[in-house]
Amino acid sequence: MDKILIRGNGALNGTIPISGAKNAALPLMIASLLTSEPLTLENMPRLADVEALKSILSNHGVDYRVMGKRPGDTDMTGQRIAFQASEIVDTTAPYDLVRKMRASFWVIGPLLARSGVARVSLPGGCAIGTRPIDLFIESLEALGAEFDIDAGYVNAKAPANGLKGARFRFPKVSVGATHVMLMAATLADGETVIENAAREPEVGDLANCLNAMGADISGIGSSTLTIRGVTSLHGANHEVLPDRIETGTFAACVAMAGGDVLLKNARTELLQVALDTLEKTGTSVAMTNEGLRVSRKSGEIQPVDFTTDPFPGFPTDLQAQYMALVTRASGVSHVKEMIFENRFMHVQELARLGANISIDGQTATVTGVERLSGAPVMATDLRASMSLVIAGLVADGETEVNRVYHLDRGFELLEEKLSAVGADIERVSGG
Ligand code: UD1
Repeated sequence: MDKILIRGNGALNGTIPISGAKNAALPLMIASLLTSEPLTLENMPRLADVEALKSILSNHGVDYRVMGKRPGDTDMTGQRIAFQASEIVDTTAPYDLVRKMRASFWVIGPLLARSGVARVSLPGGCAIGTRPIDLFIESLEALGAEFDIDAGYVNAKAPANGLKGARFRFPKVSVGATHVMLMAATLADGETVIENAAREPEVGDLANCLNAMGADISGIGSSTLTIRGVTSLHGANHEVLPDRIETGTFAACVAMAGGDVLLKNARTELLQVALDTLEKTGTSVAMTNEGLRVSRKSGEIQPVDFTTDPFPGFPTDLQAQYMALVTRASGVSHVKEMIFENRFMHVQELARLGANISIDGQTATVTGVERLSGAPVMATDLRASMSLVIAGLVADGETEVNRVYHLDRGFELLEEKLSAVGADIERVSGG
């Protein structure tokens, strides 16, 4: 297994290109199941999760083709991939494929809408809480689907004459369940109104793509989505939006190490609350024509309190990274996690690097320390892994991050991007 070695190396300076968003790319790929025509996705990140989902989709009959580079494209430019599900050849998503990534469960929506049946293994994914599926089932039941669960599989069946539009209010905001209901409703008979829908930008990106495929969705960006069902969808071209979590993560790297970095293609409106939080730590952020410029010249990192919430609140996917940042603040910060019940696994690992953090229920109290020191640590989940890299950027000596396959799931060309701005980071095989 690979590991990543980081040695504290001072300020970061230069440009980091921001990739297409993983959390948009995955549902967009799944949307290709809704039509027999090709869906071409641009700005696709090269990630282990994208590869895993390709295998899952090919099992259902999706062919994919990576298109050639265009003039001006570099190794950092996102890929252009065409997905085509001419025919759904299998409506079962088996355990072996689904267990690696929770989002693969989302195929249940399009399979049900297009083929009328789906048998999907109960999901796996990051160990950050119980992550149940009740909201998926309730919302699809509202469209007329019937369910039974046996031997670790969810069996779903649409009525003989197809799914039927309905009004449904999510009792709790769920990104995945919103994606799935949205996809299923595009081909349902009549109008569907989704209330308390997730407003995450990736939901909007999916809705815009579905409209380009011939769907009729309004209310995009709000918490009420109205979908007027159509009989079929067609192919389209769609560019994946920039990754706000990658943006916020590299911004935290610069805040931690100091320096001045342009996050090319980043868009502030996708993570305003996280950037406001960053400014409170004494970091400057400015939108330019090319992207987001993040700088911290000198001075202490100021402590800051933040609470995770559904969009537009502070993203849970940046909680670990910003916690790493305030481990070096000149005072006490409070971090409250409201989305997942078990998302403080990085705390123990940060403590191994010298951080002073105590947990009481959903709140972590972080007392800033003057120095961190490098040590072997273990990545526990995708975003948490990055908190260890961020701490490693300023720790004395060498930080060795093990289990980096977590990072490969969601951060494209991580070592290349960070070394290009001056970080001392390398990947070594084994360990
Ligand atoms: C997505 C993101 C993930 C992010 C999360 C919250 C992708 C691929 N993943 O995950 O990176 O951390 O949103 O922003 O986009 N819940 C239920 N019942 C359900 C479904 C969810 O109780 O049926 C709960 C979950 O346990 C959690 C909360 O709802 O407490 C939010 O989860 P959800 O928004 O569904 O997260 P994901 O879509 O899995």
